[in-house]
Amino acid sequence: MSAAFSAIEERAATVLMHTYAPQRVAMRTGKGCILTDVDGREYLDLAGGIAVNVLGHAHPAVLGILVEQAARAIHLSNLYFSEPQLEAAEKLVATAFPSRVYFCNSGAEAIETAIKIARKWGKLNRNGASTIICARGAFHGRTMGALAATANRHYREPFEPLPRGFIHVAYDDLGAVESAIDDSTVAVLMEPIEGQSGVVPMSDETLRGLRRLCDERNLLLMLDEIQSGMGRTGRWWAHQHAGIVPDVMAVAKGLGGGLPIGATLAGPRADIFTLSDHGSTFGGGPLVTAVAAAVIDAILREGLVESAARVGERLRAGLLRLAQAGAPIAEVRGRGLMLGVVLTQPVAQQLVETALRGGLLITATGASALRLVPPLILSEAQADEAVERLAAAFDLVAAAAARTGATPEGGKP
Ligand SMILES: Cc1ncc(COP(=O)(O)O)c(C=O)c1O
Repeated sequence: MSAAFSAIEERAATVLMHTYAPQRVAMRTGKGCILTDVDGREYLDLAGGIAVNVLGHAHPAVLGILVEQAARAIHLSNLYFSEPQLEAAEKLVATAFPSRVYFCNSGAEAIETAIKIARKWGKLNRNGASTIICARGAFHGRTMGALAATANRHYREPFEPLPRGFIHVAYDDLGAVESAIDDSTVAVLMEPIEGQSGVVPMSDETLRGLRRLCDERNLLLMLDEIQSGMGRTGRWWAHQHAGIVPDVMAVAKGLGGGLPIGATLAGPRADIFTLSDHGSTFGGGPLVTAVAAAVIDAILREGLVESAARVGERLRAGLLRLAQAGAPIAEVRGRGLMLGVVLTQPVAQQLVETALRGGLLITATGASALRLVPPLILSEAQADEAVERLAAAFDLVAAAAARTGATPEGGKP
């Protein structure tokens, strides 16, 4: 470790709460899909700020509008109308389904908004029904409502009691949802692809079944597209692969191209908020919404939804070639540029660290899965380069295990 990095690490240990476990590297700048650390080393970024940097780093469209809008107004409050907020909402709706938009500042807040819509909708339409059916493996965020919708006990237990009215059933299992519905049920809230639990896609058939079930039983279908949205899967929204439309959709991550913004879209059935039902001081501010509008424009102009599908396929093919060549890969799943690599050994963390040293940024979800959620501007050549660097990381991890005479972390060969 360099002196520059060690000094940063020591300062962080002193002043920051220990809620994160960052890799042992301090990044300083980014350009396109390349990040550069404080010692000048470069990395190919397939972590994408955890599915946030859809336009990569320092994209001219983002830089241009940031400066322009900052000079006009950074914050105005929702006491006044402002044009960037309208533009962002209009462009967002145009990519999605007929709906109205509530802007907030993060994914968790977009989920809180969805939960509040469901609660009020239940009072208006289902005799006060308030239970939301969620999925095992779901991750919806860390605020108390979003945490209650999140299944993972590790995240939940230290903070109980959580808000009541959430149940968790098997993911991608229509029958499990159907059996769980009773008079107290108001909505189904699920991710079309579960990101945090290793990129697990829901089948199009299940999604269509959920839509049908929610119509038949008079429930809201609420989709969390915070990670799977913004073109990442080769459609603007992952549910569009199934040809359905939700009542409520939560959006965040890529929408701001790196700036913090969230949004909740409500279709006509769910568009029930009235004056003072919800609000946020910073929500929909002119700076972030001007950038969000520019991000949507850039994705359209550069054909990045189609590119995500094409480059994603190339990346998947490269990963499958590694599997055929003997890398411990059991499965490559997901869509477009949202890919999970399921490992046959619990070496995900070692691979992340080894790949980092080899100039490749990826993330692990759990002990045995890698997640690749790169910028949508990733080129085919960069996808090939990523596969090569990952192959080298696999080799190094295997060589290290062979040297110690054990399979890595006690995993089965
Ligand atoms: C599917 C999903 N929902 C919600 C969230 C929470 O978003 P945020 O971290 O912006 O609050 C995340 C974050 O990873 C996510 O992946």
